[in-house]
Amino acid sequence: MNVPNIVIAAGSVATSKSSSLKQEVQALMESGWWSGSSNFTTSHCDWPGIKCNFGGSITEIDIAGNIYLGDKFRKFKFSSFPNLVRLSLSNNQILGCIPFEIGSLSKLTHLNLSHNYLTGQLPLSLANLTKLVKFDISFNGITGSIPKEFGNFKNLLELNLSHNKFTGPIPSTLGLLTNLSNLNLSFNEINGSIVSEIGLLKNLLNLYLNNNNLVGQIPLTIGHLTKLETLNLNWNMISGPIPTELASCFLIKFLSLSHNYLNGSVPSWVKDLYAPIKIDLSYNNLTGNVPISLIRMREFNLSYNSLEGRVPIIFKNYGFEVFIGNKDLCSDIKGFAQCPSPSLISPSTPPLALENIVSRMEDDIIEATEDFDIRYCIGTGGYGSVYKAQLPSGKVVALKKLNHLEAEDPTVDKSFRNEVKMMTEIRHRNIVKLHGYCLHKRCMVLIYEYMERGSLFCVLNNDVEAVELDWTKRVNIIKDIAHAISYMHHDCNPIIVHRDISSNNILLNSKLEQAFVSDFGIARLLDPNSSNQTLVAGTYGYIAPELAYTMVFTEKCDVYSFGVVALEILMGIHPGELLTTLSSSSSSSRNMMLNEILDQRLPPPNRIVARDIFFVATIAFACLCTKPKSRPTMNWVSQEFLSRKKPIAKPLHVVSLWQLKNQENYMVGDIETQ
Ligand SMILES: *[C@@H]1O[C@H](CO)[C@@H](O)[C@H](O)[C@H]1NC(C)=O
Ligand SMILES: *[C@@H]1O[C@H](CO)[C@@H](O)[C@H](O)[C@H]1NC(C)=O
Ligand SMILES: *[C@@H]1O[C@H](CO)[C@@H](O)[C@H](O)[C@H]1NC(C)=O
Ligand SMILES: *[C@@H]1O[C@H](CO)[C@@H](O)[C@H](O)[C@H]1NC(C)=O
Ligand SMILES: *[C@@H]1O[C@H](CO)[C@@H](O)[C@H](O)[C@H]1NC(C)=O
Ligand SMILES: *[C@@H]1O[C@H](CO)[C@@H](O)[C@H](O)[C@H]1NC(C)=O
Ligand SMILES: *[C@@H]1O[C@H](CO)[C@@H](O)[C@H](O)[C@H]1NC(C)=O
Ligand SMILES: *[C@@H]1O[C@H](CO)[C@@H](O)[C@H](O)[C@H]1NC(C)=O
Ligand SMILES: *[C@@H]1O[C@H](CO)[C@@H](O)[C@H](O)[C@H]1NC(C)=O
Ligand SMILES: *[C@@H]1O[C@H](CO)[C@@H](O)[C@H](O)[C@H]1NC(C)=O
Ligand SMILES: *[C@@H]1O[C@H](CO)[C@@H](O)[C@H](O)[C@H]1NC(C)=O
Ligand SMILES: *[C@@H]1O[C@H](CO)[C@@H](O)[C@H](O)[C@H]1NC(C)=O
Repeated sequence: MNVPNIVIAAGSVATSKSSSLKQEVQALMESGWWSGSSNFTTSHCDWPGIKCNFGGSITEIDIAGNIYLGDKFRKFKFSSFPNLVRLSLSNNQILGCIPFEIGSLSKLTHLNLSHNYLTGQLPLSLANLTKLVKFDISFNGITGSIPKEFGNFKNLLELNLSHNKFTGPIPSTLGLLTNLSNLNLSFNEINGSIVSEIGLLKNLLNLYLNNNNLVGQIPLTIGHLTKLETLNLNWNMISGPIPTELASCFLIKFLSLSHNYLNGSVPSWVKDLYAPIKIDLSYNNLTGNVPISLIRMREFNLSYNSLEGRVPIIFKNYGFEVFIGNKDLCSDIKGFAQCPSPSLISPSTPPLALENIVSRMEDDIIEATEDFDIRYCIGTGGYGSVYKAQLPSGKVVALKKLNHLEAEDPTVDKSFRNEVKMMTEIRHRNIVKLHGYCLHKRCMVLIYEYMERGSLFCVLNNDVEAVELDWTKRVNIIKDIAHAISYMHHDCNPIIVHRDISSNNILLNSKLEQAFVSDFGIARLLDPNSSNQTLVAGTYGYIAPELAYTMVFTEKCDVYSFGVVALEILMGIHPGELLTTLSSSSSSSRNMMLNEILDQRLPPPNRIVARDIFFVATIAFACLCTKPKSRPTMNWVSQEFLSRKKPIAKPLHVVSLWQLKNQENYMVGDIETQ
């Protein structure tokens, strides 16, 4: 032992400097570490792997991989190097024990003894090295337990004890190493349970406890490790559930829990992980179903558990192997058994509400859209996106999905629920059918009948489709829309004001022969007791003028919007400026003839169709009256369209827009009598 030398090093530097330096050089020469490579004629500070401070005292020795040390490590006079900060002797074929004297390197911050043949227990004197920042003794043959004195290493950032023969428990004092970012105790024979103090290591990024003999449960405190990116507990005997607390560690990229005795269900929160790369839960005793989630990661493994039920199609890219060795799984994915009875949502069943049925429907929906993959998205509206999906039954549906953020907004959530409530009560040949819905925190979806031709807006904007939508079809579509709105205004109890009639919300069937009003997202039950006054909704260009100052929605607002849509259908484009210029007396548009505003992409209508066009144009203009009171009701419009009597036919080129606008006098008188 060299206790006197330590006393000198710690004493008066000025008086002992030269003698301690001499001791350093002496100890260095006697170490025999450089005998093969140097003839000692140069300054010791220039020897390979050595760095000195300005005073010539050694601060760093790094000869990793370069020199055979054998038992020359054990004979090293550690006490002669009071200023040594870094000692790196990795891969130097060191034999034997770590000597007690190593504890005299009181300034040491980096100690790397990895990849050697060290044996025996760690000396307790190591506890003196309180400045250690990195300690790596991995790949050796160290025995005994991890000293509780490791709790002294308060500055430690990296501790690597992996690939040794450590036994006994993880000392709870490790919880004191609050700066630790990497802890690797893997490949040892450590037993006992994972101490809850592990949760104190709030700066931990990587935790490797794999390939040990750990028992007990994963402590709930693991959830405090919110910076964690790697958690490897593979090959232990850990039991109990995977704690939901782990969901707080959402930065986890690598989660390996395989080869344990974990039970309970596969955590559904894996879908909430920020950017997972690998999740391996294979070889455990997990039960229940494979969760539906957003799982997007390179590697995923649930093999050899006790899972049962349907494997959603979204897992198809991972293949059958990652599910092999489970109890009773079925799927449409190649390699699986077929599921006994596919879960369906048939159009004839009444709308489905919250029951057990929701999770099954959730599965189907998420499966059918591969978890709302963008490829299935067919449109985006104010309240969410619309997806096209084929359900297991084979039926193609449109799914209107609120995104999470919107679903959390109580006002949007309310409107969504309103929509559902109203739609489930509506049955009309010109209103889009609601097949079912899923109102659940994770899945806010309406399942609508799918209309393959999309919206009226899109058809009118496509020159080919616009031509296909000939005059007869256009007139019929205008009538369909009128019947649908009339039904909502007059045959529902309580009545329903749509509030957002526009060409975007009119859908067409495959032959463009039938129109369906959709999107009740902002409609609202007009409870006579509740205020009708709300923020203005609707689509710019379709909003009745009075809304600008009254802010009150009435059925007459819908009537105006209908007038705009009807005119849009005749013109092939939104009437735009025409609506405002018609109101000004000086405008030249007053002298415009009806035939001039008709969609020029279609051939001019024949005499019979021209009569219909004149008829719907007359009604459309009546609906566009500035004064709400002067507009007809939708019931009246609908009845007019149904009646056999037609107005006296006039050639379209003799009907001016000014005349059409003045029809309102005749109309109003007629309306107010009914
Ligand atoms: C020892 O050092 C001297 C001077 O630097 C040099 O000339 C000589 O070659 C060295 N001898 C060996 C064996 O390295
Ligand atoms: C460890 O430090 C204590 C006091 O700080 C000292 O007495 C002891 O000798 C040191 N141990 C070694 C091995 O240097
Ligand atoms: C220890 O040295 C080895 C070999 O040079 C290296 O791979 C390892 O990263 C080092 N350990 C630390 C903690 O830096
Ligand atoms: C953690 O590290 C910081 C700087 O790296 C240091 O100031 C602090 O004292 C360390 N914490 C502990 C408990 O030693
Ligand atoms: C030991 O762990 C540390 C910290 O994670 C790491 O930097 C080092 O490379 C590891 N050592 C070896 C030999 O892999
Ligand atoms: C911990 O040890 C394992 C096994 O030796 C190794 O694969 C892993 O890279 C190590 N991790 C770190 C951070 O050193
Ligand atoms: C852990 O291992 C040690 C040594 O192998 C043994 O004495 C001890 O009983 C074990 N502890 C537990 C909890 O299994
Ligand atoms: C998990 O296993 C423990 C016994 O190890 C048992 O008490 C518990 O009920 C199991 N939990 C589940 C969900 O199977
Ligand atoms: C796995 O769980 C099942 C059902 O809970 C149980 O019967 C079985 O014993 C468990 N297996 C293990 C190895 O814990
Ligand atoms: C999943 O784990 C099992 C068992 O460990 C293994 O056989 C299989 O290759 C793994 N699959 C993938 C894709 O990693
Ligand atoms: C409206 O209020 C009246 C009187 O308070 C009440 O009887 C009626 O049930 C209410 N109607 C609705 C739909 O809430
Ligand atoms: C709301 O509007 C409806 C329909 O226009 C009307 O019958 C009802 O009286 C209005 N309610 C209120 C409170 O203004």
